[in-house]
Amino acid sequence: MTAQPQPRPFLKWAGGKTALLEVLLSAAPREFHVYYEPFLGGGALFFALYRQGRIRQAVLGDINRELIDAYRALQTDVEAVIRVLDQYPYSEAFYYTLREVDPWSLPLAERVARMIYLNKTCYNGLYRVNRAGKFNVPFGRYKNPNYKDFANLRAVARALQHARLVCASFEEVVADAQAGDFVYFDPPYHPLSRTARFTEYARGGFGREDQEKLAEVFRELASRGVWVMLSNSDTPFIRELYRDFTITRVRAPRFINSNPARRGPQTEVLVTSYPVRLEGSLRQMRVDA
Ligand SMILES: C[S@@+](CC[C@H](N)C(=O)[O-])C[C@H]1O[C@@H](n2cnc3c(N)ncnc32)[C@H](O)[C@@H]1O
Repeated sequence: MTAQPQPRPFLKWAGGKTALLEVLLSAAPREFHVYYEPFLGGGALFFALYRQGRIRQAVLGDINRELIDAYRALQTDVEAVIRVLDQYPYSEAFYYTLREVDPWSLPLAERVARMIYLNKTCYNGLYRVNRAGKFNVPFGRYKNPNYKDFANLRAVARALQHARLVCASFEEVVADAQAGDFVYFDPPYHPLSRTARFTEYARGGFGREDQEKLAEVFRELASRGVWVMLSNSDTPFIRELYRDFTITRVRAPRFINSNPARRGPQTEVLVTSYPVRLEGSLRQMRVDA
């Protein structure tokens, strides 16, 4: 019998954490009860911890309804989504026809199949809506777009059997976290400059006040004995917000930026409510303050 495939993110999402994954895995507590990821996006850390056998139970949340619906559809009836995707041809004409369909007019499995198809075949592979909430990314022209990776969709569905999915703002998602649980926050990053405003994943950005509220929730969870870890950009504002906690500065490759001059490696911070030691080769990613 061949081994079952291990789940990986099934959507490419702005702010995806794949580049920093090794650091995050090593900075996470060794053992914890329930895992919380309230800014789920592509869920890179959830799937990575799952692959290492470290997830017993999880609470996964995001404010984006379409995204949470996608996870729900896979959790409850992955085969229905696969049946729809299996019928979709890879062509530019079909792409534009599907793009024009109003997702909210479709039943769940079709809505989610549409999202996966567009995400995997669109230019740059990024789900992004314009100000009117419309998906308007052009066709991508790939040799082998992998929207038919059904083995992975089934592996994702298996992993999600251990999860509760919540469509809500972060503070609601973590409200019942207890001592010994682990919360990982990966919010839309605080912009490095006024023009670097790539924080509008869904409609409505995540402003200064949201960052302050998040820091308060972080503090409150830590005081309750919850293990808390957070990623953010390395700015004076963020370092000040978390000055009472462990701040590790790391350098990660960044690819998503409309301004090519800003596409190089940038520093980020990893804030933890507990001390962290990066071992071996991971230490190279660390930037000394
Ligand atoms: C940086 S992305 C997460 C990236 C993800 N960890 C990954 O690996 O792909 C941030 C996510 O936060 C969500 N979000 C924005 N504001 C939120 C809020 N107030 N509460 C919960 N989620 C929010 C966005 O919909 C987006 O999916």
